[in-house]
Amino acid sequence: MEEVFRYRSSSPEETERIGERLSASLKEGDLVALIGELGGGKTRFVRGLAKGLGSKGFVKSPSFTIVNVYEGGRLPLYHIDLYRIGRASEFESAGLDELIYGHGVSAIEWADKAPELLGECRTTVSFSYAGEFEREIEIRVKGAGKV
Ligand SMILES: Nc1ncnc2c1ncn2[C@@H]1O[C@H](COP(=O)(O)OP(=O)(O)OP(=O)(O)O)[C@@H](O)[C@H]1O
Ligand SMILES: [Mg+2]
Repeated sequence: MEEVFRYRSSSPEETERIGERLSASLKEGDLVALIGELGGGKTRFVRGLAKGLGSKGFVKSPSFTIVNVYEGGRLPLYHIDLYRIGRASEFESAGLDELIYGHGVSAIEWADKAPELLGECRTTVSFSYAGEFEREIEIRVKGAGKV
């Protein structure tokens, strides 16, 4: 079973608030896939997740570091960006699998670059453009659950 929630965001702040709202339902070990075009709002959404979890630190794109860790909140948040990761083997050699199957919540941008990982994400958030400041945000959650 899968539940689908659709939102329309009209500003980066609104996208952050949608992320903040989702964070309340996240549990230890959850994987959240963030997929969709460049500039769709994936990183802004993660900023909302971090805020909602009460994590410290300002979320910015982890593109050059692969993973940023935000601690100090209800759960640690691992913000991962697979944009520059080509193959699953690179993912493993970066030690990411140990991290994501640990005690925190993982938010994985471009998770669709690793289909086997995407399949393990309980929550998938898809972003698409609907105008310069408009974004369609679709949240799919496997199993029952309230967002
Ligand atoms: N409604 C909106 N929601 C989110 N971002 C918006 C919105 N309207 C405009 N923007 C702008 O779009 C950009 C979104 O950038 P962000 O880094 O979050 O995208 P991304 O999906 O992470 O991109 P990338 O694939 O490059 O990592 C920002 O510059 C932001 O100001
Ligand atoms: Mg990003």
